[in-house]
Amino acid sequence: MSGFVEKPEPLQVPGLTHLHTGKVRDLYQNADGELIMVASDRISVYDWVLPTEIPDKGRVLTQLSLWWFDQLADLVPNHVLSTELPPGAPADWAGRTLVCTSLDMAPVECVARGYLTGSGLAEYRESRTVCGLALPEGLVDGSELPAPIFTPATKAAVGDHDENVSYEEVARQVGAETAARLRRATLDIYARARDIARGRGILLADTKFEFGFKDGELVLADEVLTPDSSRFWPADLWEPGRAQPSFDKQFVRDHLTSPASGWDRHGELPPPGLPQDVVDATRAKYIEAYERLPPAGAFSLSGRRGSNSRPQPWQGCALPTELRPHAPCESGGRFRPPPRGAGTTIANEWGASTGRGLFAERTTRLELATSTLARLRSTN
Ligand SMILES: Nc1ncnc2c1ncn2[C@@H]1O[C@H](COP(=O)(O)OP(=O)(O)O)[C@@H](O)[C@H]1O
Ligand SMILES: [Mg+2]
Repeated sequence: MSGFVEKPEPLQVPGLTHLHTGKVRDLYQNADGELIMVASDRISVYDWVLPTEIPDKGRVLTQLSLWWFDQLADLVPNHVLSTELPPGAPADWAGRTLVCTSLDMAPVECVARGYLTGSGLAEYRESRTVCGLALPEGLVDGSELPAPIFTPATKAAVGDHDENVSYEEVARQVGAETAARLRRATLDIYARARDIARGRGILLADTKFEFGFKDGELVLADEVLTPDSSRFWPADLWEPGRAQPSFDKQFVRDHLTSPASGWDRHGELPPPGLPQDVVDATRAKYIEAYERLPPAGAFSLSGRRGSNSRPQPWQGCALPTELRPHAPCESGGRFRPPPRGAGTTIANEWGASTGRGLFAERTTRLELATSTLARLRSTN
């Protein structure tokens, strides 16, 4: 069994047509035929979209993707047209909504791996191959591969498993020339991103891209290089031969497979909701990935429809901007214990700030947030 534990009802927004509810994103189309991609706070694990959300996850994914799209812009065009909210859209879509070119999507999950783990490791243990590619003897969980490899998967419907396939199978499905273009672009982008991440103390173990076509041109689509689409490992903790700590859903997976959850992964029932401490810890991991990748104040993306576009009120404001009253800095110096788990002190106050000075304000508050998280960790 798999799918949505509780399928959300799409919002009705005047002027937009709802197209699809994905695992994480809701897709709409505007009157110009552009795609409106709204990232929710939903989280999916083990092919289930859980009934519990991770606050701010949608904004982290969107802002990280935007930053990466910019880092890669000279390598490959991307689908982002604008970050402007469509007229009539709810204010809480700000920061998690992209207006995109609607593409003819290639039906392939384009995965690049620089390290061995996950489904690649499982196949390697059986056959010394990953997606049919022969690898040297002696590799273990977390080993760096001799060179990055392209390990495509078929794109499954919500609730189904993506399935690793050979390059030859992709070539059969999309044609030899398209397959070669997908592989080349995937490996080029991976190499660029790996080097950027490494410079920030993070190993990009593997990642998944989706591409589409517009007038024959290959365009990078979907989300890119987020904790949902990638395995990021802290470089200083990397130790082949065991599972690596990572900035992703590990807390959720660990909880759901522990006796505490009461859930049988291989049984008939959907998974239960998540307890608050798992939500908090997972949220902190997403925020940490965000804080460790783009340099503070990196965002300058607003309207992308040419030089005339006005900056948005929230330009440069990538994450929650308020600290809750229980944060040490706002409690008159008296420390009041926070709820369990890091990351809970940053409230979701998007849309509260407007206009001038917000860029500097955001930087200060993010630094505050970072030090607050560090303090919370050390008190846990
Ligand atoms: N530019 C685009 N044009 C058309 N479809 C797109 C574009 N970018 C992303 N998509 C599709 O939008 C969906 C994003 O929603 P998501 O929640 O990630 O869905 P999924 O459950 O398929 O992973 C994906 O199916 C992706 O292939
Ligand atoms: Mg997806």
